[in-house]
Amino acid sequence: MTILVTGGAGFIGSNFIRAWLRQMRGHVVNVDALTYAGNADNLSGIAGSSDYTFVHATICDRERMTALFSQHDIGAVINFAAESHVDRSIHAPDDFVQTNVVGVHVLLDAARKHWSSLTGSRKEKFRFLHVSTDEVFGTLEPDDPAFSETTPYRPNSPYAATKAAADHLVRAYHQTYGLPVLTTNCSNNYGPYQFPEKLIPLCLHHALADKPLPIYGDGRQVRDWLYVEDHCDAVRLVLERGAVGETYNVGGAKDIANVDVVTMLCEILDKVSPRSDGKNYAEQISFVADRPGHDRRYAVNSGKIANDLGWRAKETFATGLAKTVGWYLDNREWTGRVTSGAYRQWIEKQYAP
Ligand code: NAD
Ligand code: TYD
Repeated sequence: MTILVTGGAGFIGSNFIRAWLRQMRGHVVNVDALTYAGNADNLSGIAGSSDYTFVHATICDRERMTALFSQHDIGAVINFAAESHVDRSIHAPDDFVQTNVVGVHVLLDAARKHWSSLTGSRKEKFRFLHVSTDEVFGTLEPDDPAFSETTPYRPNSPYAATKAAADHLVRAYHQTYGLPVLTTNCSNNYGPYQFPEKLIPLCLHHALADKPLPIYGDGRQVRDWLYVEDHCDAVRLVLERGAVGETYNVGGAKDIANVDVVTMLCEILDKVSPRSDGKNYAEQISFVADRPGHDRRYAVNSGKIANDLGWRAKETFATGLAKTVGWYLDNREWTGRVTSGAYRQWIEKQYAP
């Protein structure tokens, strides 16, 4: 079966494609617009594989998306393509509405036309898996139970609102047209190939460059962290065994405050790559202005995917973080390449005193 992966040149998509091909699961067509966050380099090792086709296009392009489905005889879609950074959505929400809402609608419509033309087992097996986030649920009070699949949607950032809109469209295409959809709502990912605008790779990059490690507000905002390969395993499992029309929450069951995440990161670096002046990396921590509308706490209940599909995270936060630090230390040229001119402009704008 050939699968269509969108946004496969980004962080999670590239990890997903690498694992899919390593496990020899079949042909992958990767559609990516190569925005600032997409990097063909992330898949350089497999670019020549006969099981891999790269298509440089936006999911907003209706004609190309429609043509792709029949040209490649697509058996399933995994939609990772998105504008994904909350802080950018605060500065410039337009691109988020375009890709995360309009793009998902175009993709759903192209998938529906293709699925309607299929017959027999090919029609029965077709799936549209939409990769979403726990941020659609909004923020939790300290004693609230973790987000479950029935928690009401209360998105607070433009990013979360566009992801929520997409989730609703995906649901509607199932309820109205019968399209066989699946949705995953995952917590904060970390691991290799994450663009250094997100907390963990940004702090790693800054630590090694002897720059301040910016922590918003009081740093006590809590996130649930999941190693990217565990998320990719969950997506594969839901694709293969998930019940059509269902949503699955995915999380690492590790809720931790931002300042504690960065302190752990510093402690690992102190051991594996100590500063030349003998000081601790934690001395670089710098509290900066808070993010507007900053959600205070996320926590994810993964009981449904665990009970129904048998999914378990393999990495703890400690083992996953150590692996991540190791990867960034071994791949400094990658960080050097992706932190080019446009990246520097973003950092100057976002972290201006
Ligand atoms: P990313 O920003 O690293 O990658 C996004 C990719 O999508 C890039 O390769 C980019 O070029 C591509 N893209 C953007 N607009 C496009 C368009 N119009 N057409 C085609 N391609 C386009 O994002 P990520 O962190 O890998 O996240 C992937 C998905 O997972 C997103 O849908 C995100 O909402 C979701 N998610 C992310 C996290 C996380 O912690 N990173 C957690 C839960 C869910
Ligand atoms: P981020 O990695 O942007 O993910 P998200 O906003 O999707 O959760 O941020 C994770 C947490 O870290 C979030 O609470 C915001 C905070 N943060 C900082 O304190 N400083 C930073 O420079 C960044 C990018 C994030």
